[in-house]
Formats: sequence, C-alpha cells, structure tokens
Amino acid sequence: MITSKISNSFILFHLRAPKGAHFLFYNCSMNIALGIIGAIIVFFGIFALTGAPYVPSRKKELELLFKNLYPLKASDHIIDLGSGDGVVLKVVAEHGAHCTGIELNPVLVLISKLRLLRHKNTRVKLGDMYGLKFPEDTSAVYVFGDGRDFNRIERKVQTEANRLNKAISFISYGFESKKNKPTKTYRAYFLYKIRPEKN
Ligand SMILES: C[S@@+](CC[C@H](N)C(=O)[O-])C[C@H]1O[C@@H](n2cnc3c(N)ncnc32)[C@H](O)[C@@H]1O
Repeated sequence: MITSKISNSFILFHLRAPKGAHFLFYNCSMNIALGIIGAIIVFFGIFALTGAPYVPSRKKELELLFKNLYPLKASDHIIDLGSGDGVVLKVVAEHGAHCTGIELNPVLVLISKLRLLRHKNTRVKLGDMYGLKFPEDTSAVYVFGDGRDFNRIERKVQTEANRLNKAISFISYGFESKKNKPTKTYRAYFLYKIRPEKN
C-alpha cells in the first residue's frame, strides 16, 4: 500500500514536474550516490593505512590449501589474523575444525558474524591482531597480510608460541619469511613451524 503510493508519487513527479526539477532531482541523487561511494572508499582506506588492505582470499584456493598444504583435522584450531569478511573462517568451519578471527574493521566483523551464524565452532573478534592472546589449543595461524607487516606478524606468532610453550604452524599467503625456512610450500602458500624459543 505504502510502496504503491510512493511509486505513484514518483511517476506523477516525472510526468508533471518541470524540466528544471528533473535536473535537480537527478543531480541530488547523483551527489548522494557519489557521497556514499566516497564515504565507503575513505572508510576502507583508513583501515588500509593501519595494515594490509581488505582483499579476500579465494575460496577455491583455500580448499586447495587445506587439502594439499595443511590438511585440516577436526581437532585443529585455526587463527586468522586480519580475518576480513570471514571467508577463511567459513572454509575452516565447513571442515569441522575450530577457528578464531580477529579484524580491525567493524563492518567486516559484522559481515563475518552474519555469514558464520550457522557455525558454532567459530569466533570473530573486533580488534588489533597484535593484542590477541592465542587460545591454548591453537594449532595454526593463517595470514594474508602484506610485505610491510610480515616481520611483525611473524614475531607475534613467535611470542605466542613462547607464551603457550608449543609449536604453532604458520601459513602465509603470498609472503615468505626472511628468518625461517618453510617446511612446505604450495602455490603461493608457505607453511612454517614456529617452535618456542629456549631462554
Ligand atoms: C588481505 S585482507 C585478508 C582477509 C582474510 N584473512 C582473507 O584471507 O580473506 C587483510 C585484512 O587484515 C585486516 N587488518 C590489517 N591490520 C590489522 C590489524 N592490525 N589487526 C586486525 N586486522 C587487521 C584488514 O582490515 C583486512 O581485512
């Protein structure tokens, strides 16, 4: 009822309004649309300044990764540092393993929470990955970061391996460590074993 009234008024506006009003209407709509697009670009741009920009991993690649490089077990607990829209968490959850994601961008956290509603073994936190205390049962960490952050992320995984006093597998997408040798590589993925350091 209400929608039909709105659409009727819209049609009447187009039939009756003078040409100048049409111009004004389209100009305003265009400005609003450009404003919204601009706001989205600025919003995501601010997060890109603080770390790797949001670029999601591809589901097909993830399926290959968890088949060929790091076969998932139900007992696994995977941490995705900078979990974006939750695509990695979803693939892990679909394999029956546990996963935790942490992400700076609240919009992406909301999207992840919505897409993971059906999966009970997943957690997504809003926050800075460098402040995350890994859960005790963490088995592997997945990172699709960028070159600027790699060393800092690697140190973070090392710190957590020391704190938990256990070896943690570290899967990096696209970036290779200068410090550690990969135990295995597959396509653009590198797998490392980060062992606790002795004092
Ligand atoms: C390249 S995307 C990867 C997203 C997801 N891991 C995937 O593979 O699809 C990197 C993500 O890390 C997030 N990020 C960057 N720095 C971060 C930080 N310090 N703490 C938490 N998230 C961060 C970005 O907002 C972005 O969504």
